[in-house]
Amino acid sequence: MSSPVARMKRVEQAKKPLKGKVRVPGDKSIGHRAVIFSCIAEGESRILNHSGGEDNSRTVRAFKDMGVTIRSEEGALCVLGQGWQGLSAPSRAIDCGNSGTTMRLLAGILAGRSFEAILDGDASLRGRPMQRIIDPLRQMGASISGQDKPGLAPLKIRGGRIRGIRYHAPVASAQVKSAVLLAALQADGATVLTEPQKSRDHTEIMARAYGAELKAEGCSVALNGPQNLRGRKVIIPGDLSSAAFLMVAAASIPGSDLIFEGVGMNATRTGIVDVLRRMGAFVEWIHARDEGGEPVADLRVLGVGRLKGVSVGEEMVARTIDEYPALAVAGALAEGVTTFSGVGELRTKESDRIAAMTRELRMLGVEVEEQEEGMRIQGRAHLNGATLHSYGDHRVAMSLAVAGLCSDGGVEIDDSACVDISFPGFFDLLEGLR
Ligand code: S3P
Repeated sequence: MSSPVARMKRVEQAKKPLKGKVRVPGDKSIGHRAVIFSCIAEGESRILNHSGGEDNSRTVRAFKDMGVTIRSEEGALCVLGQGWQGLSAPSRAIDCGNSGTTMRLLAGILAGRSFEAILDGDASLRGRPMQRIIDPLRQMGASISGQDKPGLAPLKIRGGRIRGIRYHAPVASAQVKSAVLLAALQADGATVLTEPQKSRDHTEIMARAYGAELKAEGCSVALNGPQNLRGRKVIIPGDLSSAAFLMVAAASIPGSDLIFEGVGMNATRTGIVDVLRRMGAFVEWIHARDEGGEPVADLRVLGVGRLKGVSVGEEMVARTIDEYPALAVAGALAEGVTTFSGVGELRTKESDRIAAMTRELRMLGVEVEEQEEGMRIQGRAHLNGATLHSYGDHRVAMSLAVAGLCSDGGVEIDDSACVDISFPGFFDLLEGLR
């Protein structure tokens, strides 16, 4: 293992605008689902543009642990699915690493399998709330509990014959929704899930693409189980949540002109585009198209002058959930005040992102008010150089790198290797653009 000093990364101030064409890794959320659906479907699937990030690789390894054949062939992932029955009991605890999506979605699958399995993860994942999936999966009839502490991983799951439920999710969470839907596909009878805001709908889109029948309307999804799925080819679009960091950089550095090729533009994910536009950024979609039911486009972002502070209200949370750290940096560089409200969920992510971004922006000289469920950021024209902490959180690390580009004298970021969780090659790409 490399020492913390070796993992310290220096990001110099950008001396000129960022220009060029960028390809970001395949979408992390869609990548998890492509592997999951291919593994529970019957027949062969080919997955193209899988990110190779650590989180996505955890899902691949988990299914290999359950006996599924998955091979890399000419840049594609080939999966030989044998249906639900093709999954077998893993011989050891499944290590989900840092990946909440792996753990929560697998819990939904295991709820309907008649063997026992343990889902574990790193220190961050062991601290994240799992009661939100335990509750509905128990109602469906699965036996699931925190092995050491209630509501926390490691989770012990003994699945079997389960039944559909009507469930009102207390939080808008695609991971909770997906866990329930993956269990519902194996359950007897109807499941209807309603959430307070529509979270990302990649599970619904991909379930249909693999042959499932379901009805999605507003914030509700309904399906009748059990259902079987058929393998297929999937091309994963670029990850808008990964593009977000460089979008903020381009929007904040005057004269920049970046084109992001083939990025997923699902409406449940595009809050970042709306907020940046409200801040005065120029963001344009070029060549919008559809790939496997997912909207895709090339995105052009121009740096046209200093951004303006905005209020980002609770209604934006589901569509923007992973982009607040990057938007906090945009706010720090904007003219005036930027506020986020109703974002308590940020405290339950890979790190407590409200606390992490408050502390690190203050290190850069920014005035930030930390609230229980929000932030108030007083923008300033220049950020100070500083030594910063990533808290092992990939999105915090990449946001701080963008701050570094816009700081006097650059920044140093500790524990920077965590960017590999979603964006392998991030720092090389940044250096190339800088
Ligand atoms: C994800 C859903 C979101 C998001 C996470 C990925 C998914 O989490 O923050 O990065 O792939 O379903 P929640 O469902 O907990 O909001």
